[in-house]
Amino acid sequence: MGNLTNRQIVLGITGGIAAYKAAELVRRLGDRGATVHVVMTKAAQQFITPLTLQALSGNPVHTDLLDPAAEAAMGHIELARWADLVLVAPASADFMARLAHGHADDLLTTLCLATSAPIALAPAMNQGMWRDASTQANAALLRSRSIALWGPAEGEQACGDIGPGRMLEAEQLAQHAANSFASRILDGKRVLITAGPTREAIDPVRYISNHSSGKMGFALAQAAADAGAHVTVIAGPVALKTPERIERIDIDSAQQMFDAVLERVDACDIFIAAAAVADYRPAAVADDKIKKQHAAMTLELVRNPDIVASVAQRKPKPFTVGFAAETTQVAEYARDKLERKNLDLIVANDVSQPGIGFNSDDNAVLALWSDGEMHIDARSKTQIARELIELIARQTHLQIA
Ligand code: PMT
Repeated sequence: MGNLTNRQIVLGITGGIAAYKAAELVRRLGDRGATVHVVMTKAAQQFITPLTLQALSGNPVHTDLLDPAAEAAMGHIELARWADLVLVAPASADFMARLAHGHADDLLTTLCLATSAPIALAPAMNQGMWRDASTQANAALLRSRSIALWGPAEGEQACGDIGPGRMLEAEQLAQHAANSFASRILDGKRVLITAGPTREAIDPVRYISNHSSGKMGFALAQAAADAGAHVTVIAGPVALKTPERIERIDIDSAQQMFDAVLERVDACDIFIAAAAVADYRPAAVADDKIKKQHAAMTLELVRNPDIVASVAQRKPKPFTVGFAAETTQVAEYARDKLERKNLDLIVANDVSQPGIGFNSDDNAVLALWSDGEMHIDARSKTQIARELIELIARQTHLQIA
């Protein structure tokens, strides 16, 4: 089954008898791991109730452009930004005409204009309407703007006609959605990724660690796997499910992460160090719980091995990507790390900014390499990871060429 884990899909439903099939589609998308927000036109609500779709999607259904309560929860522009894919199923002839001509007179058309996510339509209408020259011209116009048309299928229609105009089945649409995410830019490449924090034991019950959740590293793992790579994640202690098709090795300390990486690094083409590795560990780990004997205590710390720098010193080395968690002079410190650690690429994030960086769902990054840079503004770690994987694929191909 195709994979939609962590994909954020806006499902637009327009008015037509096939709207009832949208209920099944919400389930099929959810079964594959997608989070779905449903947007319904007024006409769609004549065929199926928002309540049904709310129950199936587990999210409030969006119906009005000018609804202050809905806008306060997740405004239409926010929804347009949130989407990884906007799928309109069923897409009526009227909706296709309005979209083709740039109308923004309801929530769904406005959202389609505002989004930078790919848009796909599943046309559903009477065969005569589908064959009509205006619908065909609208379909051609939409395709010329890279809006995908999935279907329609041919067969018996609700009105009794036989011909093209049936909406594809829910399972077929879910498969199209999964296929739409699958790029093969890292086909066959082996990618090793570190993710999450490390824990440096002080005694059997205490440790030094940090706030890394592993979300950035796991999002990269997912994006690399979706791009066709064989992915291994060396994960510190994180509370995340392992994405499908990914090998996961769990470790605790920086030394264990170092050992796990060195064991596998020669077999990888790309190494990405997204983990927040502790720079220091206690010089000695007490066998028993340390007692509160004194008003103050001093802990002696020693340096941990620098994993990404060690990988980057190997000959030959994989394409090596580091991260830089900075709070000031982000670009300057990151470029210094890029050069000092002999990296091919570094991804800097400003971890002093609220809402991005450690333990949040979003991030904003500056990627730097020897003769270039790329900013990615605040958005979900899933989306950032996808853009970074595209960048890494471009850079690795450049290096090989
Ligand atoms: O896990 P999340 O909650 O999603 O948060 C993501 C993140 C903020 C942890 C991530 O985006 C990030 O910035 N990871 C790197 C954090 C870090 O340790 O940065 P640094 O600037 O201290 O280290 C620079 C690079 O050296 C990093 O690639 C790090 O993995 C690597 N390193 C550091 C120390 C060490 N001993 N070995 C290493 O490999």
